[in-house]
Amino acid sequence: MNTEKIAIISDIHANSWALKEVLRDIETKKIDTVLNLGDSLYGPLDPKGTFELLLENNTKSISGNQDRFIIENVHNTTNISTLEYVKSSLGNDSINWLKELPFDLTHNNIYCCHGNPVNDSISLLERINTDYVGVQTNDEIEITLSNIKENIVVCGHSHLARMVKTKNKTIINPRSIGLPAYNDDLPIPHKMESLSPHAKYAILKINTNEINVELISVDYDFEAAARAAEKNNRNDWAKWIRTGRV
Ligand SMILES: [Fe+2]
Repeated sequence: MNTEKIAIISDIHANSWALKEVLRDIETKKIDTVLNLGDSLYGPLDPKGTFELLLENNTKSISGNQDRFIIENVHNTTNISTLEYVKSSLGNDSINWLKELPFDLTHNNIYCCHGNPVNDSISLLERINTDYVGVQTNDEIEITLSNIKENIVVCGHSHLARMVKTKNKTIINPRSIGLPAYNDDLPIPHKMESLSPHAKYAILKINTNEINVELISVDYDFEAAARAAEKNNRNDWAKWIRTGRV
């Protein structure tokens, strides 16, 4: 029986140091396909180097909310210094690549989205509370996925490791390649922490009857990435990258 091996990567956030090490790890593992769930190029790190690595390695990518944010502001000057840094780092080729990224995609029996199937800014699985991040019930998740016919769903955005089995679906979040913690004000102020600096991704091994999931953490030169964040006046990003904590 043929088994397909698929690497799921997500939320690289312009961290080329982390992506490079993950791609090296993937190369040792006889992977058939690499699926990238978006938020690829936004961050005070190395947007251009990240784009080049994705292109060289022929990943199948979708757009994340922060990729969309770059495109929506490509002709405006804003007072968001990280956004302006990202835009100044990217050339026409990478901007055009971002513009052409699909919102979602299907690969065999796997449905891929960044947030949920209708909104790239809302996590499919998490329920955000002020003091902790919870998880939706299986019934709520099934309702959100009611128009999706594939029985394996992979999603990113929250940067948190998840494997959820509902009645009809298996849903996996591989965590983040490049940003192991962050805080955000939307939908309400909250923080996400993966608790280590490692670059994180998942490998799915799928055949007709079963799916096996490996959640992998890869060590890399996170100091180099943290120093790039500091150089771009983002000490918050530097701390998140070094510690996986907010
Ligand atoms: Fe996101």
